[in-house]
Amino acid sequence: MGVKVYVDGTVYDRDSARISIFDRGFLYGDSVYEVMRTSGGNPVDLEAHIDRLARSAASIALDLPDLDTIVAATSNTLRAAQNRESYLRVVVTRGAGEIGLDTELADQPSLIVIVRPLELPPERLYTRGMSLWIVGVQRTPRRAVDPSVKSGNYLNNIMALHEARRNGADEALMCDAKGRVAEGSTCNVFVVQGDEVITPALEIGLLPGITRQRVIELAGRAGIDVREGTLTPDQVRSVKEAFVTSSVRGVVPVATIDGRATHTPAVGPITQRIMELYRNYLADQAHNGESGHPSRR
Ligand SMILES: Cc1ncc(COP(=O)(O)O)c(C=O)c1O
Repeated sequence: MGVKVYVDGTVYDRDSARISIFDRGFLYGDSVYEVMRTSGGNPVDLEAHIDRLARSAASIALDLPDLDTIVAATSNTLRAAQNRESYLRVVVTRGAGEIGLDTELADQPSLIVIVRPLELPPERLYTRGMSLWIVGVQRTPRRAVDPSVKSGNYLNNIMALHEARRNGADEALMCDAKGRVAEGSTCNVFVVQGDEVITPALEIGLLPGITRQRVIELAGRAGIDVREGTLTPDQVRSVKEAFVTSSVRGVVPVATIDGRATHTPAVGPITQRIMELYRNYLADQAHNGESGHPSRR
């Protein structure tokens, strides 16, 4: 069991992995990345993550290494780490070069894969729920670096989380410039309002979460329609149920928003049902890993 790091063709132990000080990922966050977990040793939704990595790279005019190389790097690093379940981070930087913003200064992209044992949040977060804080830090607008791009430049989200933590909350909830709720620092948000499950629409400007999409599909198949729409902070503060989604944490119930309790007990019935659907989906992935593999490549 352990941490293994692939850097441009070689798998290293945790402390031997190195990257240049002149790498633009380090200097400017000039990189794209994906984070996944395994289930039964299989990377969950690998194909969707690789597709998003390719979309992110295309949006910032970064040439990705060939996709087969990326997929082989993930499986080799996973195999070397030999964890029961792993956290998996795939990073592609624009590479090193002379200092300067001009992308022409970059030599060639670097591919890094970090694998470590999977650590989930404490169980109490799933049973008692997490706290959200609606922060003043805005989600970057789509005409800046589009929030749909999963780039290595996370300072905006770091400051959003910092604000939430300063207010004693577990996670931040950011709004766009028009005051519409967008997403968390590293998660998407869903609320239950009346009989409806609503999640902010992609056009607001947010990361199209792989778990968000999976939850929309699983819920729909189970007869729970999710509407992609617009939510104001006041609407969110008054909902009966809310939950957040991300690849590593899965579906996590929300107990309080800006200090106000949502549902008592913390996990409402629809959230409970969706948590169960996602848990079952993960269990299926453990037995049926091939379905998540990018076989078409
Ligand atoms: C800003 C942001 N939104 C949403 C998510 C959830 O996305 P996914 O379900 O693909 O992990 C993440 C994941 O890290 C994120 O960074």
